[in-house]
Amino acid sequence: MGGETPRGGGLSRRRFFGTTAAASAGVVLTTAPAPAARAADDDGAVDVAITVNGTAEKLHVDPRVTLLDALRERLGLTGTKKGCDRGQCGACTVHVDGRRVLSCLTLAATADGRKVTTIEGLADGDDLHPVQRAFVECDGFQCGFCTSGQIMSAAALLKEGHAWTDEEIREAMSGNICRCGAYPGIVEAIKTARRAD
Ligand code: FES
Ligand code: FES
Repeated sequence: MGGETPRGGGLSRRRFFGTTAAASAGVVLTTAPAPAARAADDDGAVDVAITVNGTAEKLHVDPRVTLLDALRERLGLTGTKKGCDRGQCGACTVHVDGRRVLSCLTLAATADGRKVTTIEGLADGDDLHPVQRAFVECDGFQCGFCTSGQIMSAAALLKEGHAWTDEEIREAMSGNICRCGAYPGIVEAIKTARRAD
């Protein structure tokens, strides 16, 4: 699994948060029906038009391709991590139309017509998202592999407007697994980002 450099290691914090990725807790799966399914070509591939981090993208993909693979392998957005690839770790969490989803369980074709945000698109230019800043301030990571998924899940959680106690935050983030056990810092970061909101 992509061993991103954690702290130090030559990567700036900004680049770190732009390239690292990981898990999700309480992640919402994309259950909404795909917009008009596009016709498949002779090769079975379908055209998919999605807006990724504000940029319109057109893909021609096998209908079995996951959103995770489309982001990483077709669009080069490797900040979203592939951990388990089976919906159990949350490393692949992204936002689809503002809701957190596990991109390894989401077919790229079902994202047709939707807006996708990845860790690379969370900051506002040079300004880190409040959750990104809080993860740095609160030591919300160690190796960093889970971190982009944690951050994407946490950013969505704050918008969802629930999970006010530590226990509720842990429950709402329970789909984002951190093998390093950075959970205390993660909970603190979410509370810090909420106060800064
Ligand atoms: Fe583990 Fe998607 S890669 S849940
Ligand atoms: Fe290492 Fe979470 S910081 S897996």
